Amino acid sequence: EKGTYPHYMLKEIDEQPLVIRNIISKYQDENGEVTLAEDIRNAMKAADRIYIIAAGTSYHAGLVGKQLIETVAKKPVETHIASEFLYNMPLVSEKPLFIFISQSGETADSRGVLVNVKKLGYPALTITNVPGSTLSREADFTLHTFAGPEIAVASTKAYTAQMAVLSLLAVDAAKAQEIELDFDPIKELSIVATVMEALCDQKDALEKISRDFLNVTRNCFFIGRASDYYVGLEGALKLKEISYIQAEGFAGGELKHGTIALIEEGTPVIALATQKHVNLSIRGNVKEVAARGANPCIISLEGLNSENDQFVIPKVHEYLTPLVAVIPLQLIAYYASLHRGCDVDKPRNLAKSVTVE
Ligand code: M6R
Repeated sequence: EKGTYPHYMLKEIDEQPLVIRNIISKYQDENGEVTLAEDIRNAMKAADRIYIIAAGTSYHAGLVGKQLIETVAKKPVETHIASEFLYNMPLVSEKPLFIFISQSGETADSRGVLVNVKKLGYPALTITNVPGSTLSREADFTLHTFAGPEIAVASTKAYTAQMAVLSLLAVDAAKAQEIELDFDPIKELSIVATVMEALCDQKDALEKISRDFLNVTRNCFFIGRASDYYVGLEGALKLKEISYIQAEGFAGGELKHGTIALIEEGTPVIALATQKHVNLSIRGNVKEVAARGANPCIISLEGLNSENDQFVIPKVHEYLTPLVAVIPLQLIAYYASLHRGCDVDKPRNLAKSVTVE
């Protein structure tokens, strides 16, 4: 039930801190350490390459998952769109592990890949919010995202829950390989939950940003580099899905290879700046678009921010910034949808779970 909330989406955005705390409590052992089931740990350890398969928002979580597993657990990972992998399967390594990410566990495109992968005899792990679902039953192993039912068509809490679980999977796989961690994963996730709360308390500021930048526009671009690029893709999907504003996410460095031609006087460009090693470069991209008339909105991480940034996110561990950076984008999309009088929870032409190919 949505209780006093006007929409499920808003309620589900607000539930994110709780979901992260729930995940921590489900996955930590009595010593406060992350421990996953032994068979999952062994499968991760045995794999020479990991293939993440998913669609939509879950695909965007998979992009972040790739980065988490590669940096923390030092395993090569490829993330693929399920419907593409289905008919255009790349050569796979000798000992692959397939990871399916799906909120519903019923997405037909992902299931198609799972069926093929099982025929080939490869191991499969499903990360899902619905443990009894098809993708969960048909895979060898399941990790539950514990986000609670997600009703709004636009996925919010399932996405952050997927990334949180992927971070724990990466940590567990690192431990299995005796890779030293230079951070405390549980502590850092708790900080994420606290920062999420602070962000959810900033609704008025984000509603104002939504009004100032998106009220009259027909399109909007999101730019970022490294993990901010992945979060930008998700921000664009949220915005287009529920407000029908044409929105695209781009890698900052790709702008000059074509996209910048789309910038006109007043085009809103939402730029994410949460990554230290690319902070100067993304700010350079902002200058490039501003010089061509764009209306840039910079969302940065505390410590990397400039004086005139439109919104600053409190600091979290650099690996976990996508979990918090998406929240302003979810809220900006929510208010854009609301201001345009759209059906926030049930956007046109869309179903909550896509069970046909
Ligand atoms: O249930 P799944 O995670 O497999 O669903 C995948 C996509 O259909 C889903 O994420 C979709 O993109 C959402 N509507 C995005 O908000």
